[in-house]
Amino acid sequence: MDSQQRVLVTGASSGIGRATTQRLVEQGAKVVGVARRTEKILATGALALRLDVTDSDACGQVVDTAARELGGLDAVVNAAGLTRPGSVRHGNPADWAEMFAVNVTGLLAICQAAIPYLVRSGHGQIINISSMSGHRVLSPRNTVYAATKHAVEAISKGLRKELRDEGVRVTSVAPGYVRDTEIHHSPASPRPGFPAVSTQADRDAAAATGLGLAEFTDLIISILQLPAGVQVQRLEVTSDLQAE
Ligand SMILES: NC(=O)c1ccc[n+]([C@@H]2O[C@H](COP(=O)([O-])OP(=O)(O)OC[C@H]3O[C@@H](n4cnc5c(N)ncnc54)[C@H](OP(=O)(O)O)[C@@H]3O)[C@@H](O)[C@H]2O)c1
Repeated sequence: MDSQQRVLVTGASSGIGRATTQRLVEQGAKVVGVARRTEKILATGALALRLDVTDSDACGQVVDTAARELGGLDAVVNAAGLTRPGSVRHGNPADWAEMFAVNVTGLLAICQAAIPYLVRSGHGQIINISSMSGHRVLSPRNTVYAATKHAVEAISKGLRKELRDEGVRVTSVAPGYVRDTEIHHSPASPRPGFPAVSTQADRDAAAATGLGLAEFTDLIISILQLPAGVQVQRLEVTSDLQAE
């Protein structure tokens, strides 16, 4: 990676986005991290900008500000995301709307705003954090989350075609369980009295066999270090214990 690479990371206040932001700063990249809780970004050393990605206009403004502060943009890592439990039968429509607003529409708004800068860079990259749920439905109680991640896969494929001739590479990274992130503290049930997605025992078992956050972050960094002309289109990664 060019040590002066200019990178925007969403979801930079926690988990995968925060660890990626931290590692990029350590490597000398120029980084803007965005999230609603900017106070959690500051310790990474990145420039922190407040953003709720469900506000598409604000996404455009924040991307413009980030590009102005960094003197352009070479890469965007879309790590903002959330999950809410519930089958179609028992789910909560407000949860469905929130998941689509963050995981899909928010990601689209960031990509749209960033594209002109990435094209101008001459070697732009977009990394979209998808999920193993981007190609399967692990549980009928996670259908809508899986639907949002299937959408992220479709968007990544479309963007690759859209931007291929302009030198912008697009990678979807699809992890299994990654340890030490806040997403695992999401509610277990859509509403009181409705079936839970998982028991605490299920959650403990998944955590015990999950992929380390540092190892997963290394993979994201390695994609950002690839020379222009080399493209990882989709990367699926799990711990060996969760391999299918
Ligand atoms: N950890 C896993 O096992 C795993 C597995 C597969 C896929 N993933 C995917 O990896 C990505 C990162 O997840 P994580 O595990 O690192 O989760 P996390 O620790 O919960 O972090 C989620 C990030 O998303 C941000 N975010 C949520 N809603 C937002 C909003 N409305 N506007 C702006 N930012 C928002 C949060 O920031 P604020 O709350 O401060 O705004 C936070 O920084 C997600 O797309 C997730 O689906 C995770």
